[in-house]
Amino acid sequence: MIAYFNGRFLPEEDIRISPEDRGFVFADALYEVIRTYEGRLFETQAHWARLGYGAKALRFNRTDFGDLTGVAETLLRENGLTRGDATVYVQVTRGQAPRSHPFPPQETPLTIYASARPFFPKGFATDGVSVILVSDQRWARCDIKTVGLTANVLAQQQAQDHGAYEALFVRDGAVLEGTHTNLFTVFDGTVVTPPRTNYILGGITRQVILGLCKKLSIPAVENPVFESRLMEADEIMVVGTTTEITPVLRVNGQKLRSGVPGEITRRLWKAFRDKAAGFED
Ligand code: PDD
Repeated sequence: MIAYFNGRFLPEEDIRISPEDRGFVFADALYEVIRTYEGRLFETQAHWARLGYGAKALRFNRTDFGDLTGVAETLLRENGLTRGDATVYVQVTRGQAPRSHPFPPQETPLTIYASARPFFPKGFATDGVSVILVSDQRWARCDIKTVGLTANVLAQQQAQDHGAYEALFVRDGAVLEGTHTNLFTVFDGTVVTPPRTNYILGGITRQVILGLCKKLSIPAVENPVFESRLMEADEIMVVGTTTEITPVLRVNGQKLRSGVPGEITRRLWKAFRDKAAGFED
């Protein structure tokens, strides 16, 4: 595969990242995962805006990374991914410097890496998926998309060990989001998704779905979803760049009342696929 590294396109195996890179020693780094649909990048500007938001929050010496769309397009071309589906991964670290907690000298160049990989979407999960609930062990800035994902890795493995697709984080009785997805529910015809706070990632898919709710005149609110009421939901979905919209039918092994993917989930999935395919408007 051809990858991008600090201004150059080169075979991935030729990339050399220093063991002193702060991404390696401190997870002092941000990342984005972007989907393509039939070679077309989806919602790039929103992803770059979130990367800039993270860079500002982490006080990186740059918050604008130039023409990353151009980088992504070159990677897709060079790797034969201009048709079919793919993901583009971008990671930016605070650069290479002898290990010491304070920021390195201001002029230290950031490390920028990007790659593209074929992606094979699973399609709409007509049988739905299972999730488990886990207590949220993450830090208090989940709105910043850093590569420090140990708590997410542990929770996701716990889900896998239980034969579940995703683990949903619970903090103070509120169900917040998954290890790599945001949460949507439906109560009495109204879509309810947890509000954007420092305890969830402002997901791009989440934002797109809120826009689709508006377009389809589906009432939607950003309100807390409490663990105590989760099983009363008519529909539950996990959503994200690689998950798209996936219906949840079991929580901690217990079946949701409805038992099948709901009407609103299906409508949103169809509208989402149309938008991703460029059929919208
Ligand atoms: N994860 N919440 C968390 C904790 C995430 O890591 C992600 C994305 C989302 C969904 O965000 P978006 O719709 O922008 O993909 C929510 C990526 C895909 C990952 O880590 O692979």
